[in-house]
Amino acid sequence: MQMMVLTVSLVLMALLGMVFFAAIRSGGRAPAGNKVERRRSVLIAALLVAGVVISIVSLRPWPQAVTMTADARTINVTGGQWYWEIDNTQLPLGVPISFNSHTKDVTHGFGVMNDAGQLLFQVQVMPGYVNQVQYVFDEPGDYKVVCLEYCGVAHHDMISEFTVIANQDGATNG
Ligand code: CUA
Repeated sequence: MQMMVLTVSLVLMALLGMVFFAAIRSGGRAPAGNKVERRRSVLIAALLVAGVVISIVSLRPWPQAVTMTADARTINVTGGQWYWEIDNTQLPLGVPISFNSHTKDVTHGFGVMNDAGQLLFQVQVMPGYVNQVQYVFDEPGDYKVVCLEYCGVAHHDMISEFTVIANQDGATNG
């Protein structure tokens, strides 16, 4: 998904660059007639259509479309300079988990990555608030917790982990 977004972005940037290049090149010359203008209009219309189609296709599975369920397992996450406290590091597979995030000092960014290094979700952790994010893990294994908000000199070192295991407490997995 991330690779696809990157590839599409690069292709669109290249196309946009070509439009600018064409505009600069044609700018210095005398009017070239309707043919060039028509071609330019077709190119711009094609870019607009491509942009709308790609936006719809790529934004459809975006994380904000996830709905919260009331019967989720609650896990408390506390961020501090420069550590994470997670009140349970053995999480069940296939069950909605609600991460309630707190901070003891400044704003942090609670981000969870799978073992392939893909960011699965993140939530900002703010002083005075409990920010929630819900997720259902469908792969057992080790997950890495990182901080995604610059919070001081050891921000990069604010790393933790937890494990997702099958059938914890007799939970059934779909
Ligand atoms: Cu905590 Cu960056």
